[in-house]
Amino acid sequence: MSESGHTFAYAFKTEHLTRSFAGFKAVNDITLEIPSGGVRTIIGPNGAGKTTFFNLLSGLLPPSSGRVLFEDRDITGLDPYQRARLGIARSFQITNIFGKLSVYENVRLAVQSLYDGKANFLLPSGRMGDLHGKAVAILDDIGLSPAAEALAENLSHGDQRRLEIGLVLARDPAILMLDEPTAGMSPTETHATVELIQRISPGRTIMLVEHDIDVVMSISTTITVMQTGQILAVGTPEEIRDNEAVQRAYLGGLA
Ligand SMILES: Nc1ncnc2c1ncn2[C@@H]1O[C@H](COP(=O)(O)OP(=O)(O)OP(=O)(O)O)[C@@H](O)[C@H]1O
Ligand SMILES: [Mg+2]
Repeated sequence: MSESGHTFAYAFKTEHLTRSFAGFKAVNDITLEIPSGGVRTIIGPNGAGKTTFFNLLSGLLPPSSGRVLFEDRDITGLDPYQRARLGIARSFQITNIFGKLSVYENVRLAVQSLYDGKANFLLPSGRMGDLHGKAVAILDDIGLSPAAEALAENLSHGDQRRLEIGLVLARDPAILMLDEPTAGMSPTETHATVELIQRISPGRTIMLVEHDIDVVMSISTTITVMQTGQILAVGTPEEIRDNEAVQRAYLGGLA
């Protein structure tokens, strides 16, 4: 949904999107629509160009050529900060977390920073109550209420990564992009993260890069398979599992 309440059929659209590194096309002429809503997962072998594609969508990298559209707007020239203001949010690594602050304080700061860009002196004092309530709700969403008072640096790896997602959620983004959110997690942490993603997906588009094929199959609305900078296939988990080209290229072991 846009601010005007109009629903768009696609979240992102790319047109001939290409990114080269010293002549090597990490993303090679991708024309693709990513539908609005649901969990849209990108898979593919190491080096396929998944992270580069993400970087082009979030604005971390400019393309060598081609365009990126968000809803009905050409955002190719916008930087990540400008895209974030449109509702495109991306989880970064734990460097965003203040280790010496509590989990609650981290979330609270993230919520507060939303208002900081605006004329702060206009912020009614009553809104401070909202900030607390919003922070508490996010802690609940990410399952870290019991750890609210813990120093962020003392969290487990999995909990830190969930906190990262919480910091991004503070923006209430329309599109949330997560690059390998379960990387390095234990099975229990992975399970909790899958539940978290399912809990926060209604009303927004989640874009995921994920290697854990069980996670991919259980959580995805659609799967986009990348190979050598291009799109090999797009489909539902069932369609991708049954796709022979995908089997050959990547999912050989998938029963
Ligand atoms: N900044 C860069 N400079 C040079 N080459 C790069 C750069 N970023 C990516 N590449 C190259 O582009 C290709 C795609 O990389 P990318 O990180 O997008 O792949 P990926 O699909 O995310 O892989 P992985 O599954 O290992 O995370 C790789 O060959 C990589 O070495
Ligand atoms: Mg990657």
